[in-house]
Amino acid sequence: MTGGRGGGLRAMKVLVVAGARPNFMKVAPILAALGRAGDEAVLVHTGQHYDAAMSDAFFADLGLPEPAFHLEVGSASHAVQTARVMEAFEPVLLRVRPHWVVVVGDVNSTLACALVASKLRHELGCRIAHVEAGLRSGDWRMPEEVNRVLTDRLADLLLTPSRDAHPNLAAEGIEAERVVFVGNVMIDSLLAQLPAARELRVPARLGVEPGRYAVATLHRPSNVDDPAALSAVLSGLARVAGRMPVVFPVHPRTRRRAAEFGVGDAMAPLTAIDPLGYREMIGVVDGAAVVLTDSGGLQEETTALGVPCVTLRETTERPVTVAEGTNRLAPWPLTADGIVRAAGKAIAQGRAAPGERCPEGWDGHAAERVAAALAAHAPGAAPIVHNLATEGV
Ligand code: UD1
Repeated sequence: MTGGRGGGLRAMKVLVVAGARPNFMKVAPILAALGRAGDEAVLVHTGQHYDAAMSDAFFADLGLPEPAFHLEVGSASHAVQTARVMEAFEPVLLRVRPHWVVVVGDVNSTLACALVASKLRHELGCRIAHVEAGLRSGDWRMPEEVNRVLTDRLADLLLTPSRDAHPNLAAEGIEAERVVFVGNVMIDSLLAQLPAARELRVPARLGVEPGRYAVATLHRPSNVDDPAALSAVLSGLARVAGRMPVVFPVHPRTRRRAAEFGVGDAMAPLTAIDPLGYREMIGVVDGAAVVLTDSGGLQEETTALGVPCVTLRETTERPVTVAEGTNRLAPWPLTADGIVRAAGKAIAQGRAAPGERCPEGWDGHAAERVAAALAAHAPGAAPIVHNLATEGV
């Protein structure tokens, strides 16, 4: 096997699942690392996100291959969406018969595929790996928290993005042998795409000056599905816009809710635009004075870039971005005043130098450690209890 894994280890067949926008930047470096190791990666797109802006644009920017299987489940209630993914994924798994099923993040597709694989793994002799394991918000009202906890319970191998995930898993009784620290695969994509993102000169195209504008994103049900909450957040953002332009790429769910609740006018002071592609988003975030968001991924990307971030949520499952990075939580419950104050503090804090406030393992090589961990724990291989990140793999 050329360029593949040495030491006589056989190549693995790995079924990699992606479903929604925040998954695509996580699977791209994993597919590349598996390819370099000589393994066969089979990509499944569940179709949870299907709009060109939410899906295709990401495939193009990230250089993702055409999925081998597209399940086309689309939007529906949580139960229906999860059930559709399960029904469609089962025959794929039976047909591919991989050594590994790799699921990433915390979306409905993540849990659905882990659940299907958990019932077939003994029959097929495959294992389940969860990338981004061990994150906890402690907030059971979030569908993502349910997805995270249950996926971790089902997975054979839990690959963590930061050290603070380990006590969370230990507290749930998960054996340390199943847990390996690999670092943050999303930062692999960020660092790989940053030069191309900067060349796009997105701030100039949007008519804003680097370092003198804010970026905002909103899509959490807790912020956008309740008229009072959405209106409070939008009025906070509108007041920040009195100080500097606020670029606001609007999630489809948020656009629909704002229209339904008749609060669309509150967006008038904002530079509201359609969702951006991956590189464009990185480009616009990289030039921002501050990012205001309820997204999980952006909390991490801002920390890696050194850009101050205000998280518009009660809790974060990524506390390492607050303790070691550039993130802070806006005062809870969210009010326009609280958002304006938190934004002011974040802007005053200023940008951190690259790598100055960046957690361990957010170094552009996490996916290589994922591929190494999969090989070390492959079905038939003896379990190895060690830490691939500190061993410099
Ligand atoms: C999902 C994930 C969330 C992730 C977010 C990023 C779960 C439980 N939640 O939330 O963790 O941070 O994606 O975007 O899996 N829609 C479109 N076009 C699309 C996709 C969705 O118009 O391509 C609309 C749907 O019609 C629906 C809404 O957006 O009304 C929500 O989509 P959905 O996939 O249910 O979940 P998100 O709220 O986006």
